[in-house]
Amino acid sequence: MLATRLSRPLSRLPGKTLSACNRENGARCPLLLGSTSFIPTGRRTYAAAVEPVGSKAVLVTGCDSGFGFSLAKHLHSKGFLVFAGCLMKDKGHDGVKELDSLNSDRLRTVQLNVCSSEEVEKVVEIVRSSLKDPEKGMWGLVNNAGISTFGEVEFTSMETYKEVAEVNLWGTVRTTKSFLPLIRRAKGRVVNISSMLGRMANPARSPYCITKFGVEAFSDCLRYEMRSLGVKVSVVEPGNFIAATSLYSPESIRAIAKKMWDELPEVVRKDYGKKYFDEKIAKMETYCSSGSTDTSPVIDAVTHALTATTPYTRYHPMDYYWWLRMQIITHLPGAISDMIYIR
Ligand SMILES: NC(=O)c1ccc[n+]([C@@H]2O[C@H](COP(=O)([O-])OP(=O)(O)OC[C@H]3O[C@@H](n4cnc5c(N)ncnc54)[C@H](OP(=O)(O)O)[C@@H]3O)[C@@H](O)[C@H]2O)c1
Repeated sequence: MLATRLSRPLSRLPGKTLSACNRENGARCPLLLGSTSFIPTGRRTYAAAVEPVGSKAVLVTGCDSGFGFSLAKHLHSKGFLVFAGCLMKDKGHDGVKELDSLNSDRLRTVQLNVCSSEEVEKVVEIVRSSLKDPEKGMWGLVNNAGISTFGEVEFTSMETYKEVAEVNLWGTVRTTKSFLPLIRRAKGRVVNISSMLGRMANPARSPYCITKFGVEAFSDCLRYEMRSLGVKVSVVEPGNFIAATSLYSPESIRAIAKKMWDELPEVVRKDYGKKYFDEKIAKMETYCSSGSTDTSPVIDAVTHALTATTPYTRYHPMDYYWWLRMQIITHLPGAISDMIYIR
């Protein structure tokens, strides 16, 4: 009974969940664990902790669309000097045009493919030469660029595993290493966009999960190493915001599915069958319109990580269902969480 309840999104639970009063707006919010200390952090407001930013310089990767695009505009509105890394700057992506149309000397789009050491080094030079005093360094790096895919382990080619890791994991490591000398000088901030899937795995998401688990490990090691040097490292672990970003579209899912099926080894095709495969793809397509359309919890979390005197190690902008699921999977024995969630 408990397993059935916890394995469903809270929005689909019958009305009798425990509730507590939200001090800010008086609204009642559902609780499964009868103490307000368990209210998930997705609802936290950070404004009170924010310090004035002056004209600190920040690079955000992956600004053509999604979180990166909104972040570039938001950080610019907060007064930061923003370098918006765009994969498609040289191809005139709509997002890039919109950022350029702000026509501000505090927001500059730069061509940046995080898989290319050459492009990363060029951006280091652009940033360095734009700083009033390069010896004082730059304040922040937000490693946001990412791609995603899906598919059971047996459906996923080695090329796909490597392709996703090249952007999400090695892109983050590469960009961070190149910018650290500037960040260290400013005793600045590194903010890595991981995912709730960097904390808990999910069936059919191994190519993505392993890269985000890697980002989490990298961030922890870096945080330990940077502590004595005054650089603060935070991880933001968004929940499901698929409907609000370009990470997936029905078209991209169908294209990935076709390629995947065409390239499957015969034995895998035969053993799983087309019906099973098609059902999985149909489920993935419905996922495209799921999740929150309001990205502000993610934007607020990154802003806090860049501006607060004492930023958090981890931020969890996600809804109650995913927050609770993450707590259960990361804190309870695997046998119990498997019984609840994996069927
Ligand atoms: N949306 C969610 O539900 C969700 C949840 C958890 C975590 N995240 C993470 O949030 C981050 C941002 O994703 P998003 O949801 O905002 O999706 P998005 O709209 O697809 O944004 C990802 C951005 O990264 C860019 N990019 C892709 N490959 C790149 C490369 N090699 N070099 C530089 N930029 C590259 C994309 O450029 P193009 O648009 O030109 O391809 C795009 O602008 C990712 O790290 C993702 O894993 C997202």
